Amino acid sequence: MTQSVEIFEMGPRDGLQNEKRAIPVAEKITLVDCLSRAGFRRIEVASFVSPKWVPQMAGSGEVLAGIKRAPGVSYAALTPNMRGYEDAVAAKADEIAVFASASEGFSKANINASIAESIERFVPILEAAKKIDLPVRGYVSCVTDCPYDGATPPEKVAEVAERLFELGCYEVSLGDTIGQGTPETITKMLEAVKARVPVEKLAGHYHDTAGRAIANIDASLAQGVRVFDAAVGGLGGCPYAPGAAGNVATETVHAHLTALGYDTGLDARVLDEAAEVARAMRGVV
Ligand code: HMG
Ligand code: MG
Repeated sequence: MTQSVEIFEMGPRDGLQNEKRAIPVAEKITLVDCLSRAGFRRIEVASFVSPKWVPQMAGSGEVLAGIKRAPGVSYAALTPNMRGYEDAVAAKADEIAVFASASEGFSKANINASIAESIERFVPILEAAKKIDLPVRGYVSCVTDCPYDGATPPEKVAEVAERLFELGCYEVSLGDTIGQGTPETITKMLEAVKARVPVEKLAGHYHDTAGRAIANIDASLAQGVRVFDAAVGGLGGCPYAPGAAGNVATETVHAHLTALGYDTGLDARVLDEAAEVARAMRGVV
């Protein structure tokens, strides 16, 4: 029987958040509407963070209001604090995500909080979301390497991932934020995390800065991971992670998984169309 692997589309959020040009809301909506035809179950389309920190995500509420919601697709939004949570609920996000780091340096640079402080901020978000049955995903950033602190100990990743899972995150996405992971460091990290969080509850979120994302996906498949985050056109980067290049490209991950015999449920033609839309938005053709 064909095994399924899910790709969680990140293009409209992680893909665009670092773009310098102020991308009009209408263009973002066009990209999401195109992605909605590709067969994704989950698309991250919004981020309710401070516009002073990430100006590109300022129109997130308008994006959620303007898209044509396809049945069966969950439209996700990042929320760093209660204010972001309330805005995401008001905008009718289908699910939200909290984001922590496994390294103190990145935590401070990205959300102006220590790891412990950030987890404290997430507690009321998870409590409120539980009351209204809103699914919450958790991210852990810098799972192998941090631009500020160097190599990340696998035990630290496991500790943060376990905490997010215990608090009620339905899935924990493990981010190689600056794309410096190798199959060896990714494997060591996953071995440590799997000892604390069931592998079915984990996802791989790999940036392709060093061109190793596909090799890291292969290492993760061998560890039993069956969900991967990716962005059409390979767009992306994080403003607080110097040198971080794009997310691994969705169309490349889809082609790779399909060649390995996995079913992603995605339509390659629509993916190519969306990748073209995404690249044009960025001025890359
Ligand atoms: P702060 O400056 O410590 O907080 O920022 P503050 O409470 O002093 O707020 C500063 C200003 O922002 C205030 O406005 C607040 O009202 C406002 P002012 O009074 O100066 O006019 N504010 C907000 N506005 C809108 N929505 C909100 C919100 N909260 C406060 N939710 C804060 C702390 C967390 C807000 C800030 O650091 C922040 O927004 N950081 C987000 C950074 C970010 O989005 N990074 C990219 C996403 S993470 C990522 O890409 C990694 C990932 O892809 C996985 C991976 O690759 O590893 C997920
Ligand atoms: Mg990312």
